[in-house]
Amino acid sequence: MKNLTADELRQTYLKFFESKGHKIIPGASVIPENDPTVLFTTAGMHPLVPYLMGAMEHPAGTRLTDVQKCVRTGDIDAVGDAAHLTFFEMLGNWSLNDYFKKEAITWSYEFLTEHLGFDPAQLSVTVFAGEEGIPADEEAAAIWRSLGIPDERIFRLPREDNWWGPAGTTGPCGPDTEMFIDTGKEKCGPDCRPGCHCGKYIEIWNDVFMQYNKNAEGKYEPLGRHNVDTGMGVERTVCMMSGAPTVYDTEIFAPIMAKIDALSNVPAGADAGEVLKARRIIADHMRTATFILCDPKGGVKPGNVGANYVLRRLIRRAIRYSRMLGIQPGFTVELAETICEKYKNVYPELGENLAQCKLDLEAEENRFNQTLDKGEAMFNKVAEQLKLHNQTSISGKTAFKLYDTFGFPFEMTLEMADKAGLQVDREGFEEANRKHQELSRTTSAGSFKAGLQDNSAVVTRMHTATHLLHAALHQVLGPTANQKGSNITPERLRFDFTWPEKLTDEQLKAVEDKVNGWIRAEIPVEKKMTTVDEAKAEGAMALFGAKYGEKVSMYTIGDVSKEICSGPHVENTRELGSFKIQKEQSSSAGVRRIKAVIGNLT
Ligand code: ALA
Repeated sequence: MKNLTADELRQTYLKFFESKGHKIIPGASVIPENDPTVLFTTAGMHPLVPYLMGAMEHPAGTRLTDVQKCVRTGDIDAVGDAAHLTFFEMLGNWSLNDYFKKEAITWSYEFLTEHLGFDPAQLSVTVFAGEEGIPADEEAAAIWRSLGIPDERIFRLPREDNWWGPAGTTGPCGPDTEMFIDTGKEKCGPDCRPGCHCGKYIEIWNDVFMQYNKNAEGKYEPLGRHNVDTGMGVERTVCMMSGAPTVYDTEIFAPIMAKIDALSNVPAGADAGEVLKARRIIADHMRTATFILCDPKGGVKPGNVGANYVLRRLIRRAIRYSRMLGIQPGFTVELAETICEKYKNVYPELGENLAQCKLDLEAEENRFNQTLDKGEAMFNKVAEQLKLHNQTSISGKTAFKLYDTFGFPFEMTLEMADKAGLQVDREGFEEANRKHQELSRTTSAGSFKAGLQDNSAVVTRMHTATHLLHAALHQVLGPTANQKGSNITPERLRFDFTWPEKLTDEQLKAVEDKVNGWIRAEIPVEKKMTTVDEAKAEGAMALFGAKYGEKVSMYTIGDVSKEICSGPHVENTRELGSFKIQKEQSSSAGVRRIKAVIGNLT
């Protein structure tokens, strides 16, 4: 096996596919250009969708190869293990109705064994097992066999494992064949096989045969084209080549981990496993945040909804974990410098936009640290009082006050209580949260402004109202009225969507009536943890793309709306009170903007 660096791997890959007639094209922005169904670019195929669909010819031809920056936050809670990351680089080669399975698989095998030096005996592959209406991919299996992979290392798996796409709600997709490296670890059980998450088999490459289109009705129709879309994970492949136990132990992360260690002052007696996890989470989240903030497209700043909220969550989570390692404030800026230094030769934007990125990080860190300091001081007061009275449990009401009035994350209350040997009434907290939301409906707008924090009740309610509005627009105008952007303040929600002309008064009234009807129908909002593929199979709108089997949350509002979304949302549509459209106007060419209010807010 060769031990290539990420720089060497990128070059080796691009040159290899260039030698097979591919044109090297630049990777795209990590913030999608024209796709309202996703918040970030999640795969190399994303920017190529129109060409895969055959809507137009790619100027560089029918064989393309590139390196794409990808952000996938569906599995944010799995970050900290050996291989999950919220940002990664994807190497890809494409056939736009040019070559198909035989060439794609043969070249994958040739590249893995001859150019990266993997032992064929380490390689296991999966192929699509077939389902009603779509046959098993015996063709792919036969090609693998002809290359020398024995049948016992060719696994036939269902749609959940061996079907990829579409990246959003509709678009090109198809069966895939995935390549796994056997790490040599013991099997975790008799059913352990590629696709199992125990860490024995690591997926490094996926060849997708994009012969189908998922249409707006959720049906898979033949695309009439035989495309190939592939994706190889740079971090995982470098990890497997070097024999490192985790992606964080590769040369890619080395300077970042070294910087974190230099900044840390881990308290004596800290749990070694927790420290390890905190280091990895900080490294991962800060790398993702730095790439988002430095992206040439710009525009994503820490905030309360959509992509802005994802960015805020990443930075704030890194800050919370930094405190566990005794890292001093200001570290986000220092880590961004290290990350940009490591990557700026490959991604010039990390050199060019570092200064602005540092300003944004500094501002967000200051904001959150103030919140945490105030919250911690309040928590300590509470803990002192309890001790004075020989009590050991923090009431739900108190925990809610820390959260709602001081913006102190509930997880922080749990963590600090644990350290102080105190219990927390979790159910009481949830109950207080619910009651507060009820109350919010009759409170005036002014008092909302004062105590508004992240995840506060009003933002939560507006967030659910946004899903209802989106669903109503789909019902009244049709499936092309797609979300382009969303912004929530305590006073109003704003929603941009694709639509060519001014809405008529009748259309606006119909949309408003639908939303109010759903509020009056008191529909429960259900949250389910699922995988992206399962959610899509149920017809959910995907705002986050994800693969590698991670869990995502899917919010279902009766049969009105189903979206993959990080939340938060109310528990029942009745909590919205009422919904009123205040304004409908043009936002930009082909995009309309609606401003609306809920409850008693004016
Ligand atoms: N688009 C495929 C993936 O992301 C290659 O795995």
